[in-house]
Amino acid sequence: MKRLPDLRLSALFILLVFGIQFVSSSIFPFLTIIAFHFGYLQNQNPVVMLIFILLTSIVIGLILSKIISKRVLKPIMDLNEATKKVAKGEFDVQIEEIGIGQEIIEMTHSFNIMTQELKNIETFRSDFISNVSHEFKTPLSAIEGYATLLQDETLSSLEREQYITKILASSKRLSALSGNILMISKLENQQIVLDKKWFSLDEQIRNCILSLEHLWSEKNISMDVELDNVSYYGNKSMMSHIWYNLLSNAIRFTPKGDVISVQLKKEQGNIVIGCTDTGIGMSKETQKHIFEKFYCGDRSRNDGGNGLGLTLVKRIVELCDGAIAVESQEEMGSTFWITLPEAGQEKSAVLFKG
Ligand SMILES: Nc1ncnc2c1ncn2[C@@H]1O[C@H](COP(=O)(O)OP(=O)(O)OP(=O)(O)O)[C@@H](O)[C@H]1O
Ligand SMILES: [Mg+2]
Repeated sequence: MKRLPDLRLSALFILLVFGIQFVSSSIFPFLTIIAFHFGYLQNQNPVVMLIFILLTSIVIGLILSKIISKRVLKPIMDLNEATKKVAKGEFDVQIEEIGIGQEIIEMTHSFNIMTQELKNIETFRSDFISNVSHEFKTPLSAIEGYATLLQDETLSSLEREQYITKILASSKRLSALSGNILMISKLENQQIVLDKKWFSLDEQIRNCILSLEHLWSEKNISMDVELDNVSYYGNKSMMSHIWYNLLSNAIRFTPKGDVISVQLKKEQGNIVIGCTDTGIGMSKETQKHIFEKFYCGDRSRNDGGNGLGLTLVKRIVELCDGAIAVESQEEMGSTFWITLPEAGQEKSAVLFKG
């Protein structure tokens, strides 16, 4: 069955053709009556006169068709020109949203949205490439610089050790960066969570806190941990990235001797995890951008992060149909809240098994 918009467009087309035909064919009797009225048909050779009237009505009909078709075809011709530009990779093209018929206006409107989206993707792609190359360049230059210094045979063993430590730190940063980029691109193309199984969420968070002990104990940070027993059906290794990123941020941005609290509880059919620190906090502006790729806030206060951790966390939470929120105040600290649906778990489990 034909769709209503198709029928509307066909009806409009038929109406236009009929209109042009009607006007140009009515001109002929109209001119004949006028010529007859003024006596031209009697005084002149009537055959010549009738041919003249016929030609006049054809010319008027043609002019009319030309004017109307120009109005009808203009958006299509504009679209044709604009499409040629897009095909050459020029996305900064917009066309006038005019035309006879809702469908033509809709088509020009959709085209404008499409070019806008293509332009955004293109900007995003080039920004991404320049961000990736910039983030790779810094640790690579450090490795190169310290390796060159290490070639000096007169170095003391303390200097040698310091340079090796710096090289190791930069290599770790590089490997974390490439790991995060790979994981983000993989998760962005993934729509469902694979390899789900039941595991203890509280045990996983506790293990993560323990694995980061060298970082928080080094800064004399105390951990206030309050975890209810919660079983979760999900991808265990993927979920561990959430806790690792939130906790390592909290540790990095919290001054020595302060407290970090982690809590896990069930609330109204959801699993809620909170990670609160008493660190530097974030301005409202920073909070708006923290989930964007490569956003690092104030670089002077960020000791070598790549700005990918929270992007990754948000994507994982989204894949789990959960939500992430942040509450923060500058110089007071931040709390990250993660809410995961508990009710959907059995359903997903059944879906996954089936
Ligand atoms: N707990 C926090 N306290 C204060 N600022 C934070 C906190 N967590 C994140 N931020 C801000 O958000 C930014 C983005 O965090 P994100 O984890 O995405 O990147 P990163 O930690 O800088 O680098 P990466 O995680 O890739 O190593 C940080 O650079 C920082 O400015
Ligand atoms: Mg981080």
